[in-house]
Amino acid sequence: MRELTPETITDAVLEQMAATPDPRMREVMAAAVRHLHAFAREVNLTPSEWLKGIAFMTAVGKMCTPERQEFVLLSDTLGLSALVNGLHDKTAIEEGTHTSLLGPFYREASPKLAAGSQIARTVKPGSECVLYGRVTDTSGIPIAGATVSVWQTGADGLYDIQEDGAATDYRGVFTTDADGSYLLRTVKPMGYSIPIDGPVGELVKAQARHGMRPAHIHLLVGAPGYRELVTALYLRDDPHLADDVVFGSSDDLAVDIHPNDLNCPITGLPSIRFDMRLSREGAADAANGRVGADPAAIVKSSAQAASQQRA
Ligand code: BEZ
Ligand code: FE
Repeated sequence: MRELTPETITDAVLEQMAATPDPRMREVMAAAVRHLHAFAREVNLTPSEWLKGIAFMTAVGKMCTPERQEFVLLSDTLGLSALVNGLHDKTAIEEGTHTSLLGPFYREASPKLAAGSQIARTVKPGSECVLYGRVTDTSGIPIAGATVSVWQTGADGLYDIQEDGAATDYRGVFTTDADGSYLLRTVKPMGYSIPIDGPVGELVKAQARHGMRPAHIHLLVGAPGYRELVTALYLRDDPHLADDVVFGSSDDLAVDIHPNDLNCPITGLPSIRFDMRLSREGAADAANGRVGADPAAIVKSSAQAASQQRA
């Protein structure tokens, strides 16, 4: 048997995994091992540091519940979600509106609302605003009947599901009309801190980072024959537009709140216009999915996978 040393161990692991029948799994795991080993060599990782890393990942796993996905939060704060989203955008057959983070607060169960409805249960004076725009293909042809899901925080910077026992709030699902238009009332979004009461928050604080996201409204748009778009609009004047803790904001998704936009279908309120272009669906789109999901759906699918393994 050959001697295993820090110089030969990587090849030994790669050889042992070389017969993995699934070619994509073989490729991904081989690259993961090469890069993990290179990382350990580069920093000369000590046993106590690696145990600390394992304890951290254990704490991240223990924090996960149907309501909270700490691993997605870790991926977000390391810029990995934004990187994977960017790579995913490059595989679209056409360049549409860019992707932004889905985040942990999306919920599949959200009320279907008529055009023009207010998504907030209560609206403080002076906070109401209109969000409107058009969903088109990449050449500007309107997409009628597209589903536009919207979710955001309230004025306290919290999502409905972060409030104990709160009812569904600040979210809704709209449908575009014949000229691809969508229209809703909401409240002005606020910048907020990501949840920092768990291990990811401890890491962010240890790195002297502020933990803030710039004010934004999330959008998830789907229409038959088009690639699903997960994105968000960001308020241009937010002080954290350029240093979002999860790297989701960018100039091309930045918007202004217009005090008196004469093109807005609802007058007398400040408004945001956000048009979105969808790429046609490519053959691989459905299988590649998106980064992040309703945390309840992630927990459900891992429970299903575990029960399939047991059976
Ligand atoms: C959000 O925008 O909802 C979000 C995204 C990533 C991490 C935490 C929150
Ligand atoms: Fe958000």
